[in-house]
Amino acid sequence: MKAYKIRIAEQVSEIYPSIPKEDIVLSLETPPQPDMGDMTLPCFPLSKLLRRSPLYIAEELKEQLQLDFIERKEAVAGYMNMYFDKMSIGNDVVTDILTRREHYGSQTVGHGKTIVIDYSSPNIAKPFHIAHLRSTVIGHSLYRIFSFQGYQCIGINHLGDWGTQFGKLITSYRLWGNADAVEKGGIDELLRLYVVFHEEAEKQPDLENEARRWFAKMEQGDPEALQLWEWFVDISLTEFRRTYHLLGVSFDSYAGESFYNDQMGAVIEELKAKGLLVEDDGAWLVRLDEYELPPALLVKQDGSSLYHMRDITAALYRKKTYDFDKAIYVTDYAQNLHFQQWFKVIERMGYEWANELVHVAFGRVRLEGRGLSTRKGNVLKLEDVLQQAIAKVKSIIEERNPSLRNKEEVARAVGVGAVIFHDLSMSRIKDIDFSWEEALQFEGETGPYVQFTHARASQVLKKAYRSRDIPASDVAVVPIHLADETSYQLIKDLSMFGDVVERAMEKLEPSIVTRYLIDLAQQFNRFYHEHHILVEDAEVLETRLALVKCVQITLKDGLWLIGIEAPKEM
Ligand code: ARG
Repeated sequence: MKAYKIRIAEQVSEIYPSIPKEDIVLSLETPPQPDMGDMTLPCFPLSKLLRRSPLYIAEELKEQLQLDFIERKEAVAGYMNMYFDKMSIGNDVVTDILTRREHYGSQTVGHGKTIVIDYSSPNIAKPFHIAHLRSTVIGHSLYRIFSFQGYQCIGINHLGDWGTQFGKLITSYRLWGNADAVEKGGIDELLRLYVVFHEEAEKQPDLENEARRWFAKMEQGDPEALQLWEWFVDISLTEFRRTYHLLGVSFDSYAGESFYNDQMGAVIEELKAKGLLVEDDGAWLVRLDEYELPPALLVKQDGSSLYHMRDITAALYRKKTYDFDKAIYVTDYAQNLHFQQWFKVIERMGYEWANELVHVAFGRVRLEGRGLSTRKGNVLKLEDVLQQAIAKVKSIIEERNPSLRNKEEVARAVGVGAVIFHDLSMSRIKDIDFSWEEALQFEGETGPYVQFTHARASQVLKKAYRSRDIPASDVAVVPIHLADETSYQLIKDLSMFGDVVERAMEKLEPSIVTRYLIDLAQQFNRFYHEHHILVEDAEVLETRLALVKCVQITLKDGLWLIGIEAPKEM
């Protein structure tokens, strides 16, 4: 679509040299209804510059514009509507998809540029709960979307593996835990110890001091404290890795908060030298009054470093190590202030790249109307959600298609796909009321529906090509013969893919891809129900097969962009 817009814009600005091409590209719209044309140019914005009425301009353009892919034009109430030539659009789109295949819709805008994406970043010794799923799937999708546009991406899991909570955990473990129970229970047992600590601390406030002492020991390198901490990290990572494996997510770096321990001293010195660090009752902070923000607290009275301090240090390290063009942080909006504050500290330090730091915020997850709280033990474990989804798909397969090959693999891909798609189907900033029923819903506008549509397309191709002894991957680029509206609408939907990915990247919004996939799948199913594909007429047959192949490629690419697998059969 973009290519057509550019060609139209080029000609319009030849006709009216005072109007920049770019403005016309931006003005061109898709009409709200197909019977109003394939594209329309509202002439009102041009009218001011040209000092002529929009009605006149629309008429003049209708007379003068000449492009091979435009079959018919009409001037209506200041709009110039264009009807494309179905055959030539069909041929352009199909040729583009079948020659570029998995690269169809991708761009090279990102070549030579690096983006660091900080996502998932769960906290050690706490369950990987449903809220971390959001960060994980949004971040993973952005990683793929940016890679698709040619960027070099670095995915970082900024594990919450340092801080006073480990002092609490060690205290609780020494009082109420034992090695066997931790080995057996894993994160569940660590969580239990954490909850017990908070219950007991209400009765004996002195426990808080004990916890602080243990964290101080960790910071001073005490072997007993560090050994316990490392053990808790290992146990947690084993569980997290299992979840990532299920989700099909990986990272380029697992440098968590503790990774920066020995780099913070130099940053403190730098902040002091730049006159930014202020002492306040034994603690250290950076004032941000000029931005009307509360100060960023960096070091506590007892000398331990805070979340802000670690993010500042990590950002400096990442800039030095990866020389990024952009660094993205994916967390819920409860952390908005945190990011605003330390982005400003980087700015005050005099680093211009402060404006390349981007916080991608998303909405919070509520369960049965309540917020999730680790301390109170109100958690929803992602692994449980995924396993239930997989089990439900398995039972559906047993019922409907018991002879399916790779049942286990397909059940995993579809169950996990349902959960990921559900999460990515709402715009990211919206709060989610988690409902088991919705997450495990496979009909309607869901991931499994899109996966099923992709499998349907794959099966049609397989059947067609088996009878002709040609591998299904070899669908030829053929002249396209289109007559009906449904096929034409399908072509138009296919042609939108590149624009959709571009918009998703600009808005940092995977739900734009999700929405598109539903529309494309629905249009394909309309086409499928209206037409026999395996017909006698060779021209019609080749055209329809080419369309099916194009849909299969585009659905698969689109699912890949949101981190979902596309089984060929289900
Ligand atoms: N561990 C944090 C949490 O669970 C998220 C970390 C996000 N990344 C960052 N660089 N601050 O809330």
